[in-house]
Amino acid sequence: MTVYKNAQPSDYPVLFYLGRLVAEPVTILDIGGSAGSLYYCYSRYVDLSHAKCWTVLELPFVAEFGRQLALERNECRLRFTSTLEGVDSDILLASGSLHYFESPLPDLVRELPHKPKHVIINRTPLSDLPSVVTVQDAGKFLVACRIHRREELIGGMEALNYELVDSWRVPDHSIQIPFYPEYSVPEYSGLYFRLKSTAESS
Ligand SMILES: C[S@@+](CC[C@H](N)C(=O)[O-])C[C@H]1O[C@@H](n2cnc3c(N)ncnc32)[C@H](O)[C@@H]1O
Repeated sequence: MTVYKNAQPSDYPVLFYLGRLVAEPVTILDIGGSAGSLYYCYSRYVDLSHAKCWTVLELPFVAEFGRQLALERNECRLRFTSTLEGVDSDILLASGSLHYFESPLPDLVRELPHKPKHVIINRTPLSDLPSVVTVQDAGKFLVACRIHRREELIGGMEALNYELVDSWRVPDHSIQIPFYPEYSVPEYSGLYFRLKSTAESS
């Protein structure tokens, strides 16, 4: 498992927004955050010393690996969970992971005890066509993958009182779907949502 990585150009918009948001004592929920790869990577570019807690939601075996690594590195800010139950966060980050979840993003947000004020999605295949499920051939493994419809995702977040602040292209990631080329996604996307009113955050 590759844990220590340098930031890619597709990380730059996230670093830009996260850098501003973590100036305050915030809690971060990192969905599909591997063994803490983004935590370790981003902490080299933004000052995370004010962050109260960075919680990674991961599959149990990845979470266990991440826990051990964090322990060895004395990273007390980094935590791991395999359920959204009871996870409170100010910032939800889902980078390169939303398409591996069957539930759309608004449903994942609904599972949380409180709506995060900021939701940042990165490296995610989105489509203008209806949502489809496919199998992604990642070389070493095959994985089920759901391509969410952009309009539905944004509409679902707006229904939860979020506004879309920014979106960006991720041209170095794509999914080609043989036999159904119209469902191929030539480039991934990034989105930043902000909760309109913190009074309605639960
Ligand atoms: C491509 S990696 C993304 C890693 C990192 N967030 C990044 O942007 O580089 C996708 C991650 O999603 C995790 N994942 C997939 N399905 C999941 C699930 N149902 N629950 C939790 N994590 C999941 C995988 O274990 C994997 O670490």
